[in-house]
This record gives sequence, structure tokens and C-alpha cells, in this order.
Amino acid sequence: MKKIPFVTKDKVEEIVKKYKTPFHLYDEAGIRKNAQDVKEAFAWNKGFREYFAVKATPNPYILKILQEYGFGCDCSSYTELMMAKSLGFDGEHIMFSSNDTPAEEFQYADKVGAIINLDDFTHIDFLEKTIGYIPETISCRFNPGGVFKLSNGIMDNPGDSKYGMTKEQLFEAFKILKEKGAKSFGVHAFLASNTVSNEYYPQLAKQLFELVVELKKETGCDIKFVNLSGGVGVPYTPDQEPNDIKIIGEGVHKAFDEILVPAGMGDVAIYTEMGRFMLAPYGCLVTQAIHEKHIYKEYIGVDACAVNLMRPAMYGAYHHITVLGKEDAPCTEVYDVTGSLCENNDKFAVDRKLPKIDMGDYLVIHDTGAHGFAMGYSYNGKLKSAELLLQEDGNVKLIRRAETPKDYFATFDCFDDIHIEE
Ligand SMILES: Cc1ncc(COP(=O)(O)O)c(C=O)c1O
Repeated sequence: MKKIPFVTKDKVEEIVKKYKTPFHLYDEAGIRKNAQDVKEAFAWNKGFREYFAVKATPNPYILKILQEYGFGCDCSSYTELMMAKSLGFDGEHIMFSSNDTPAEEFQYADKVGAIINLDDFTHIDFLEKTIGYIPETISCRFNPGGVFKLSNGIMDNPGDSKYGMTKEQLFEAFKILKEKGAKSFGVHAFLASNTVSNEYYPQLAKQLFELVVELKKETGCDIKFVNLSGGVGVPYTPDQEPNDIKIIGEGVHKAFDEILVPAGMGDVAIYTEMGRFMLAPYGCLVTQAIHEKHIYKEYIGVDACAVNLMRPAMYGAYHHITVLGKEDAPCTEVYDVTGSLCENNDKFAVDRKLPKIDMGDYLVIHDTGAHGFAMGYSYNGKLKSAELLLQEDGNVKLIRRAETPKDYFATFDCFDDIHIEE
């Protein structure tokens, strides 16, 4: 399917009069339409709640939009918890799915009343020692080991991942947690990432529903929710078919009716922690071509770099690129599109067929709305960009300003003998 940017050349030319490139731009209308679709796809489940994975797009303005749909936050750290709390999410709307968790993060999660999702069996003791008790509502993360397969092949390798508890540990954990005072239980699993397939959630749900029926029978624990976590993917490449959340919701519903309802567990709530599916397509990185270089290959240098979007450098991830104003021009050139870091993997595209790029052209790097800005870092002293929201009425709102050198040097403020001139 042809990937069409949600922003035009004219609009970008208008935006750059006020905000210079590079910047991340988010599409409010797209975010809202998708959030509504997700809500409707799971409306059959009374307790359904999406806990948006804050790590994907940790921006208060984005979280506030999702809050309007009744969604919660899935937090993985102290600062993510702070953000959720400060936006008025109550404990019930905060899931704390962390791993290798520092004591102060459990303390703060408990303070804000978040639902704690334990990544490991040993965290039962750790949590109890840290906060002095076991909360009444508690969740455990499951890892079945082996590989996770769908009809189109192996999707991921849980046996090789650091997360979750084995089945034996999970059963033992529920018994111990119950003895220690827990009353409501949840099971969580994240077994495959970026699944561009409508089968993932239904298949995972089937596996988890069978598991919780067994868990209830063996431990007598009251299972309140099954958390399908994240992993629902988006089509980064033009040849991929997008997932259909309606079909996904129906698939989970079918498994629910076949497994949980006959077991007398028809009141179990379905929770999700999607990040990518909620935001990735509704964000893009807008950057300008500033250099061209002709050596053994043809290079286009842009004013963004891996600090703004790390996925291509980190995993060789594909992000589609559109040259604004040349949407329909033939792709006659083959370029590496590079950033300015002193790292040869700082390339947004390698051997990519694109229309002829002229200096000053604006490039839209697609699908950066999740795990895009968020993964940024500060190598080479590069500064993070602004984040902008293209509002439904067409106006653009600054939702995070670009960093300045002052931000970069802020952590030296406490030293009397270091002075950075501005
Ligand atoms: C615990 C947890 N939940 C949810 C997510 C969101 O995953 P995705 O963005 O693939 O939906 C992640 C992503 O890393 C995660 O670690």
C-alpha cells in the first residue's frame, strides 16, 4: 500500500516558519480515530482497558488525548509514573510493568496506587521487603519459553528473553501472593514484538485464557484480568497489510467465549498495553536535506540524526521516506540518507530508491510516533528536537520544545568550578 504522509509540503513550509527542522509531528485526528477504533473493538469486554505504553511516546499532551478515551498508562519507571500521576491518572489507570526494578520505583508505584505487575518470582520478597506488604491487587508476567509461532512462522523467541516467570514459578507465585494477602490477580505476557498479523492477540489470548483457567483451579485465586500487553504491530514497509483491530478484537472475543465463559470466568477484564499500534503511524520525523555527497555511493545528509530516531541505527529498522512535493515523482536515484553522528550506522535509509533529492527538500520519515523521539539520546552533544501536534483544526501546537545547549549542560549546574558560556 502506498504510504502517504499525513502532512503536505505546503503545511511543512508553513510550520518551518515558526519551528525549525528537525521535529517530530503527531497527527491528532489519526490518534483519535485509532483510539476510538481500539475502544470499539474491545467494547464487548466490560472491563477492557488499554494502558498506553508511556515509553513509546512519553508526552503529557499525547497521554491527555488518550485519557479522554478512558485509557490508562503502562509505566516502566519512576519518571513515567510521575508523568501519569501528574496528569491525574488514578492507581487503577496505572499499570507498572517494569523489570529489574529498583526499590524506589516499587515504593513510588505503591504510593500512587498503581497495579504492580511482577516480572519475576523473586520480586515477591523484594516487593514485600520494600513496601512492607503485598498489595491486594497484583499481577505476574508469564514467559512460556520456547518460540512464539503464528501461521506465517516464528514471530519471536520468549525462551531467549529476560522477561517474566516460568509456568511453575507463576503457579507458585500465585499461591504465595494469596497467602500473603493478595485478593485480585492478573496475568500478563508479551511474547512477540511488532506483529503485523491479526492472529497475534487472539493466539496469545487463547494461551493465557487456558492458563488462567488452570491457575484458578489449582490456586483458587480470583483472576480479575488478563493483560495482553503490547506487540501489535504496524506496517513500516509499503508492502505490509495493516492490522485490523476490529478483527483482532473479534478473535480475542471468540477465544474468550470458548475458554473463559464456559469456565465461569466471563467477568475477566482484558487489558492491553499497546504503544506502537496506538501511535507509530500517527507521528513522523520531518527533516531537511542539507548536504549531498558523491563518493562510492550517493549520500543525502539531513538535519536529523539517530538522536532523533534511533531505530534504524539500532536494529536496522525500515522507516519509509517521502520527499515532500515529490510524492509521485519516479524513484530514479539510490541513496543512503544519513544523519550527522560520528557513527556509520547513522543512516535513516540504505540503498533506498527515492526521487532525485535537491538541497532544501523536506523529507518525511514515516511511523515515528512510537519508540521514535522516546528512544533519543545525546551522543555527539546533539540536542533533542521539538515535538509538535497537528491538531484536528489544522493548527500546530508545540507539545515539547527543542532542547537548547542549556539543557545539555544543565547537569553541570551544581559544579561551582565549571562554567559553560552561552
Ligand atoms: C511491558 C511492555 N508493555 C508494552 C509495550 C509496548 O509495546 P508495543 O509498542 O510493541 O505495543 C512494551 C514495549 O516495549 C513493553 O515493554
